Amino acid sequence: MSLIAYVNGGFVPLEKAYVHIEDRGFQFADGVYEVIACYNGQFLELKAHLERLVRSCQAIRVPLPATQDELESLIRETYTRNKLDDAMLYVQVTRGVAPRIHAPAKELRPSLIITARELPAPDDEKLLNGASAITLSDIRWQRCDIKSIALLASVMGKQEAMSRGAYEAFWLAEDGHVLEGSSTNAFAVINDVLVTHPLDCHVLGGITRDIVLRIAAANDIEVCERPWKLDEQGLSECMISSTTHAVLPIVRIDDKPIGDGAPGPVTGRLRKLVLAEISVLTSA
Ligand SMILES: Cc1ncc(COP(=O)(O)O)c(C=O)c1O
Repeated sequence: MSLIAYVNGGFVPLEKAYVHIEDRGFQFADGVYEVIACYNGQFLELKAHLERLVRSCQAIRVPLPATQDELESLIRETYTRNKLDDAMLYVQVTRGVAPRIHAPAKELRPSLIITARELPAPDDEKLLNGASAITLSDIRWQRCDIKSIALLASVMGKQEAMSRGAYEAFWLAEDGHVLEGSSTNAFAVINDVLVTHPLDCHVLGGITRDIVLRIAAANDIEVCERPWKLDEQGLSECMISSTTHAVLPIVRIDDKPIGDGAPGPVTGRLRKLVLAEISVLTSA
């Protein structure tokens, strides 16, 4: 059976889900997006995702294509129509269709598309043994807090990681501190403290990052949001977080082992705690 997508006012089979070639998302990457997990009909932090979408739209001055309540019901309907159990909902808003001129016309109707697919899960081998990452100078723009569809730098980062046999690329600031992954937030355990870059325009405020920090603090894991470097004394573990990974251990970076090169105890504990929290948040 075909997957069903929502495109600008109607539900259509995915094979017939098209937008116009003059959509500004296609021509200028002039849009924003969200990726939301749904477990057996229960959405994870749907309100937080919608609020981030609203903030992203406001930041690029694109009017919301529907009210927050209407968006929520369209997202729920897309999930229901696709008859999936655990699903990943993709929501994209662009400025709309117009002749290709940089300056956006005032009266554009924003485009809204929503798709649903099976929720991808990190593979068991990576969960058991950990994954590897490389570091790259951050070549992205200065507003990484906006969840923009302009993801060419992230694609290039991921491509470079893959070509070196690694799973993720960590963006480094000019002074060498770790910002985040190409599509994930990055954390380290340094002298038993869970450390991650603070929220500013150099990182995306991940919804999973919030869950990780909240759950860590609630379980007596000390948390500190500050810039950090890979060569800091006492750094024993690294991990990434995102909607599709929850928490995943990173055990090698630039071909050097982190700690003893195996997933560490804090990462293991946090992954369990975060998965338990996800079950609570998504129980009927
Ligand atoms: C650059 C970046 N950082 C972090 C994340 C994680 O965000 P979330 O936890 O909301 O999935 C993503 C997800 O796409 C991302 O692209």
